[in-house]
Amino acid sequence: MTKPAVTAFFDPTTNTISYLVADPESSRAAVIDPVLDFDVGAGTFDTACARKILAVAAANRLRITWVLETHVHADHISAAPFIAAHTGAKVGISERVRDVQRQFIPTFGTDDLHPDGKVFDHLFADLETFRIGALQGQALHTPGHTPACAAYVIGDAAFVGDTLFMPDYGTARADFPGGDARTLYRSIRRILALPPETRLFVGHDYKAPGREEFAWETTVATERAHNIHVRDGISEQAFVLMREARDATLSPPKLLYPSIQMNMRAGHLPPPDARGERYLRIPIKSAPRV
Ligand SMILES: [Fe+2]
Repeated sequence: MTKPAVTAFFDPTTNTISYLVADPESSRAAVIDPVLDFDVGAGTFDTACARKILAVAAANRLRITWVLETHVHADHISAAPFIAAHTGAKVGISERVRDVQRQFIPTFGTDDLHPDGKVFDHLFADLETFRIGALQGQALHTPGHTPACAAYVIGDAAFVGDTLFMPDYGTARADFPGGDARTLYRSIRRILALPPETRLFVGHDYKAPGREEFAWETTVATERAHNIHVRDGISEQAFVLMREARDATLSPPKLLYPSIQMNMRAGHLPPPDARGERYLRIPIKSAPRV
């Protein structure tokens, strides 16, 4: 099996890890979960994070053919359109993104968006295979954190997005609309059924208490032995109780609304209004009492 060369890019603002995954033989590569910096107070974007990925790809003479999204992120905006515009790469995500679009179109009143997933270049079915040069990749649907979560298994590595995190931190929240702790547990067991030596690359790291450095690479064997939420021996029921209790204490991510509105459009802004201005919406849950 060819081993992909993996370069990780940590974004300290959103604690996201993006990856550049290359086939050393053909110099073809994929970018996973690139981040677009967004200053919500100023309404401005910056492509510094994504440009770092392109610079490393250029320095290594890599040709990026895929941008792979592990899900519709709710805490940062995707730089997929920027990477695709500079490389001609295709942007792919789980075909269940249609469920996410269907769910959020009424939330944001984004009537111009059809819930057919066609704003993405490619929709992956469960277990669908793809190629990065000579490397074989496979999309594994892993719903639970969100309905359209997928892990990408590429050679001896798997990019697991927000399903499970480093062993000392545990797992991702499952309380977003369409999320479900029981489904998440089952998806995680699917990932943990991969060969024990499989390298796992996680989508976020927040440093577990007592750990000095950020980390993002582990293995199936290590997760099965040590993950504080889902190591072998922890039952589905115990996990669900823990996850739901913990999720009840979490506040929404700061970039929740901008992220979902743009990421369900493959990272694009909504169209401009009649005056040519662009806006992102905030749904109001409780109007002020007068
Ligand atoms: Fe996420």
